Amino acid sequence: MTQDELKKLVAEAALKYVVEDAVVGVGSGSTVNLFIDALASIKGRIEGAVAASEASAERLKKHGIRVFDLNSVSEIPVYVDGADEITEHLHMIKGGGGALTREKIVAAVAKSFVCICDASKLVPVLGKFPLPVEVIPMARSYVGREMLKRKAQPVLREGFKTDNGNLILDCHGLTIMDPPALEAELNGIAGVVTNGLFARRGADVLLLGAPDGVKTYKKKI
Ligand code: A5P
Repeated sequence: MTQDELKKLVAEAALKYVVEDAVVGVGSGSTVNLFIDALASIKGRIEGAVAASEASAERLKKHGIRVFDLNSVSEIPVYVDGADEITEHLHMIKGGGGALTREKIVAAVAKSFVCICDASKLVPVLGKFPLPVEVIPMARSYVGREMLKRKAQPVLREGFKTDNGNLILDCHGLTIMDPPALEAELNGIAGVVTNGLFARRGADVLLLGAPDGVKTYKKKI
């Protein structure tokens, strides 16, 4: 099976987690695009969606799925999103597409986070994928120096602005042994909007697409 076929497999498997007559949280990325396409097949059974990026909102609307502003929604039973890396503890690096801040906000509101990935995303330790850090433009150099002190090599994502009008520093060379601690520490640097570690609020369920089918991992309590 190709990587795209594995993505499609998990995207379709996520449908069974969608709660009927409720608003579903929708992340972003190529796997989520396939989830949105699958969601269209049950659009009459959901109230609508909250999207974590402009691109996802556009795709949802094209399928005739109602998109709600997060401020008009008080409950999201399930949020479905991909990841750039994920561990068996369901800690993730996200933000490869630059939508990390909105993704983190929608994930925070959601009761349950269902992560959909192909098998290449499962890793023993996070950090091989450069950690995206969204920064306020005037803080770019300062945050870069702070990342260097933490043994990371920050690289400005050239020609890219987030949906919030900010910049992304992709931070290479980290071996992240304690994801919740690093997530909190980096978010404490002045000028950081958020970083791509999703560990304090990780996933609750991981649907991993492997050649022999979809494997389900649940958060260990
Ligand atoms: C977007 O900002 C990311 O967090 C995505 O969830 C992540 O990059 C996964 O994307 P793919 O499904 O395209 O691999």
